Amino acid sequence: MRVVSGIQPTGDLHLGNYLGAISQWVAMQDAMEPGDECLFFLADLHALTVAIDPKELAKNTIEMAATLLAAGIDPDRSVLFNQARVPAHSELGWILGGTARIGWLNRMTQWKDKAGKNREGASVGLFGYPVLQAADVLLYQGTHVPVGDDQKQHLELARDIAAKFNTDYDINLFTPPKPLISRAAPRIMSLRDGEAKMSKSDPSDQSRINLSDDDDTIAAKFRRARTDPHPLPDNPAGLEARPEARNLVTIYAALADKSVETVLAAHAGQGFGVFKPMLADLTIARVGPIRDRTAALLEDGSAVAAVLAHGAERARTLAAPMLRAAQEAVGLQL
Ligand code: TYM
Repeated sequence: MRVVSGIQPTGDLHLGNYLGAISQWVAMQDAMEPGDECLFFLADLHALTVAIDPKELAKNTIEMAATLLAAGIDPDRSVLFNQARVPAHSELGWILGGTARIGWLNRMTQWKDKAGKNREGASVGLFGYPVLQAADVLLYQGTHVPVGDDQKQHLELARDIAAKFNTDYDINLFTPPKPLISRAAPRIMSLRDGEAKMSKSDPSDQSRINLSDDDDTIAAKFRRARTDPHPLPDNPAGLEARPEARNLVTIYAALADKSVETVLAAHAGQGFGVFKPMLADLTIARVGPIRDRTAALLEDGSAVAAVLAHGAERARTLAAPMLRAAQEAVGLQL
């Protein structure tokens, strides 16, 4: 098993990233058998596809790496690095750019959302972004890619690119990667709008719980979270037309490691005045220690940078054979 996944170092890590992706990363790392490999990276090259202050990018990369360590990524067991320090990602990305089709990229919903009406003004990087993402995974023969539901389409594209490359060059080089979407928390929604995903780029900080939030902020954000006046139902069908309520119950269930059914069985009939403080306590119990460990790690940012440098060295070694094989396949090795 080769587990590969990444996260963009833009903004703060939030509860959606944690429940949808990072907690899965940690679980997979902890379940690793001899011969398996877990690679996790800060997708700093991907972060360049939208305007970002260079100082901010460097600072975010270190802070996010510290948060990943604090959340349980163990650099002795997993390879943790930043993408820019492993040039093979860019090199394979360029090669795969010859395989990916413009029509495929045009269909990417994230491209459509992020470019909006101003496609002509969007960066070339933003359009080609999923090709680099395919390279990120194919470079290591990634078999399992733990991600939130919003990345599923990008991974399907990676599978299409892998298949077309193999066919075009008549070679069985790339293994199509499997997205592993968290069952408990495939898509955590905004606290302000149950129809929008919780996101680093939402202009309202009230829409998300950041892993850096202090306890009072977490409690206040849940208190202000949009809900409806009805009590909790006794089964999931009763949440169907109530996206905000469903989201809060989903968060509770994911944090408590219980099913939505079990949570509803225990809390049916309660109003949000009672449920929200319990949800806040549960969140604080999980996020608080991660936040405090992150702060402790950031007291020596150079130690975090050293962890990333060491990870990048290992990643470069792991990436080399595949890049070479891809170069050979297309005629770049003389
Ligand atoms: P990014 O940085 O937007 O998000 C990182 C991870 O968090 C998940 N996620 C969520 N899960 C549940 N609910 C949410 N509200 C939520 N928001 C984010 C994402 O699905 C993701 O798993 N393109 C990727 C980064 C990337 C990557 C890769 C991922 C670059 N190369 C290769 C996997 C493999 C991204 O922007 O994720």
